[in-house]
Amino acid sequence: APTHKPVQDIIQSGVVPKCYIQHEDDYQAASSNGPPPLMDAPTIDFSLLSSSSYPHDELANLRSALSSWGCVQLVNHGMPPSLLDEVREMSKQFFKLPLEEKEKYSSKGDDLLEGYGNTNAVQRGSLNWNDKLHLQVYPEDKRQLQFWPENPQQFRTILHEYSKRNRMILEMLLKAMARSLNLEENSFLQFRRDENEDMAFARFNFYPKCPLSDQVVGLKPHGDGTYITMLLLDNEVEGLQVNKDNTWFRVPIIPQALTILVGDQMEITSNGIFKSPTHKAVVNPQYDRISLAMLFKPSRDKEIGPLDKLIDEERLQLYKRLKDYSQFYSQCIPPLGERPISKVKI
Ligand code: SIN
Ligand code: FE2
Repeated sequence: APTHKPVQDIIQSGVVPKCYIQHEDDYQAASSNGPPPLMDAPTIDFSLLSSSSYPHDELANLRSALSSWGCVQLVNHGMPPSLLDEVREMSKQFFKLPLEEKEKYSSKGDDLLEGYGNTNAVQRGSLNWNDKLHLQVYPEDKRQLQFWPENPQQFRTILHEYSKRNRMILEMLLKAMARSLNLEENSFLQFRRDENEDMAFARFNFYPKCPLSDQVVGLKPHGDGTYITMLLLDNEVEGLQVNKDNTWFRVPIIPQALTILVGDQMEITSNGIFKSPTHKAVVNPQYDRISLAMLFKPSRDKEIGPLDKLIDEERLQLYKRLKDYSQFYSQCIPPLGERPISKVKI
């Protein structure tokens, strides 16, 4: 079926299939006012958060940005700019390979999540203008190397290095987030079974340029089911937008920054203090765009619910408790256009 072809392959004909065109109301509303404003959340200097003195200001900035935007851009996180460039470069190179080469890594079997392809099989409504390569990176023994490209040559080594450093940053970030709420610093580390076991997926996104860019959407508005998503954005082509108070904002390009999104599991655990923002990726008429999302999810058997310390008379419990993370998706299927987290609200 043509809808299962990679978008990159479809657009070679120059014709945008109808199944990718958004409902008119959606795209007209979005394009009628011109490009949305830039998000004006402050960037966070990560080196100030991780130092033992925890300067109050930067922690307060972190808390405030994650509570209002659910999105921050971290600078001075310790990852060398050359590594970020290598990651961007290798993902561009991967998506540039001939289709037959990429299809060696196509999703197959029962679990269609991992590998190269698109997410059309699980879409409702119009389709996303997006091809992806989805790889589990943690726990390390769950890596399915048959999906990990060997071309470009350094792909596996660089992804390994990048994931390892993302994980270190994640741990420091979760501690800082806990401290910013005056909680004991391990309070948000409970998503992991132990310190050797994060569950993380790397999702490489590719958004081919599209002549009808204002009528298609790269990734439709959604919230992440993760607890934290760490994004590496394209350093030349903008595309990520976050929604705050029913308005869209463009996330600016800061080449050396990591962009953090609060996920639904963190919104629930923080009893709504940190917001999991609705976000989307738009497409450019002239340029292809890439991004890489490192998706940190709770391990499956974890109970999900607000921390007791964040529930009191002033802040009532806002979300139900779920026995484990797998219930989040099996039981929280909302009507079209609504987000799963709306099903957990009390
Ligand atoms: C997303 O992860 O939802 C979008 C990432 C992006 O392409 O900016
Ligand atoms: Fe997302």
